[in-house]
Amino acid sequence: MVGFLHGIFKESPKVVVPRKSGYITDAAVMESHRRGGLGKRLLAAAEKWYSLHGADDIYLAAAVRNDIGLGFWTSQGFESITVSMWKPLKVAKSPAKPAVRRRRK
Ligand SMILES: CC(C)(COP(=O)(O)OP(=O)(O)OC[C@H]1O[C@@H](n2cnc3c(N)ncnc32)[C@H](O)[C@@H]1OP(=O)(O)O)[C@@H](O)C(=O)NCCC(=O)NCCS
Repeated sequence: MVGFLHGIFKESPKVVVPRKSGYITDAAVMESHRRGGLGKRLLAAAEKWYSLHGADDIYLAAAVRNDIGLGFWTSQGFESITVSMWKPLKVAKSPAKPAVRRRRK
């Protein structure tokens, strides 16, 4: 195997306009086989499969520093619609002590 694309279905919550979306969880092509059109073929197959199974659209998450991934998805017609934000926490790793202790019987 030199490449793969994995995806799932996600349905919107009942409170919003119902949409059936394909969600690509991961995709990769071995370095030695990149830029040969394999990623494009994998995505085309996924798009066809999702269309046949009633999806309205496809989405995915890509790291903002992943220039390769972003270059690929953008070239295939994907656009950014949300930004995920992240912050590491500087807290102690040990669990917090309970604020109230139970009395022993
Ligand atoms: C992203 C990935 C799957 C693309 O696979 P690929 O087989 O190389 O892609 P293709 O050859 O079909 O490329 C199609 C188009 O995408 C764009 N593209 C691909 N790699 C690119 C890169 N490194 N930089 C910018 N654009 C790129 C180009 O427009 C390319 O067309 P072109 O070669 O005619 O210029 C592959 O680079 C990979 O496995 N990357 C590491 C894992 C990864 O980042 N996965 C995505 C996680 S979000």
